[in-house]
Amino acid sequence: MSARSRELPRRSCLSVPGSSERFLAKAPGVPADMTFLDLEDSVAPLEKEAARAKVVEAVKNQDWGDRVLCVRVNSWDTRWTYGDVIEVVGQAGERLDEIMMPKVERAAEVVAMDLLLTQVEANAGLPPGHIGIEAQIETARGLIDVEEICAASGRLEAIVFGPADFAASVEMPVLTGGIQVPEYPGDHFHYVLSKILMAGRANGLQVIDGPFLRIREMDAFRDYCQRSRVLGYDGKWALHPDQVAVLNEVFSPTQEQFDQAWDILDAYRRATEGDGGGERRGAVMFGDEMIDEASRKMAIKFVARGERGGLRRSVPPAR
Ligand code: GLV
Ligand code: MG
Repeated sequence: MSARSRELPRRSCLSVPGSSERFLAKAPGVPADMTFLDLEDSVAPLEKEAARAKVVEAVKNQDWGDRVLCVRVNSWDTRWTYGDVIEVVGQAGERLDEIMMPKVERAAEVVAMDLLLTQVEANAGLPPGHIGIEAQIETARGLIDVEEICAASGRLEAIVFGPADFAASVEMPVLTGGIQVPEYPGDHFHYVLSKILMAGRANGLQVIDGPFLRIREMDAFRDYCQRSRVLGYDGKWALHPDQVAVLNEVFSPTQEQFDQAWDILDAYRRATEGDGGGERRGAVMFGDEMIDEASRKMAIKFVARGERGGLRRSVPPAR
């Protein structure tokens, strides 16, 4: 399902308010891997219905290149969800890759969206299963059910942490979402980020961190990006074009890491397969390091992530 966008990179996921013609017009020029046109929290309640037509117009008539293109609809506990899906998916055409569901609390919400999408696709003449789903975990209830949520539909492509709503949901005494809290000795979201990561990876999903609201604090932003990157996350949201360049860098392997990953794969293959006089050994020295099958798995992830981000091996393999 949703074959085009499932494996595309999502290092940088740009949020664009769907009610703003100015921001909708600028968004295709920002080099984000993924862009979502928002009908939820960045759109005022009185603008929600009018924003749908603006979003449809932007999806159909702007050149989005080959980035992942998504629309965030309103959550099932509002009165807008079905109207958002029917109007936007029904009219936007094949260029729309995904729907993002905010504040998902139960697997049944994803199942309901899957069923609705199936009917809307059929009526709109879209290929069955064309529209993928990204689900946001941003409440205590959603976090508790994240494992079932991640397994709820073959349409799911990514699971996304929403730190601002989450802080509100668990009543953290903070007024800004997604930033470091100096009073806490460590990362106050470590458990949450890890739990979402496990559920996402166990179900083959991309795993994305949400927004960092202090959009002028670039050093703090870079530092915060490193946290989810080091855990294993695929990418993070951008609320401003300036954040996109940082994300594309932090969530990519460096050229050196990418080349080293290839060298590990070559060395390990030569050792295990025994070509060129190798001894068919499962563990060999690579420089000062012992490598084995687990090293191969790590290296493969670097290569895949680098290739998704457009890296090419700088030194051709010796043979
Ligand atoms: C994103 O939607 C968030 O609430 O952080
Ligand atoms: Mg939110």
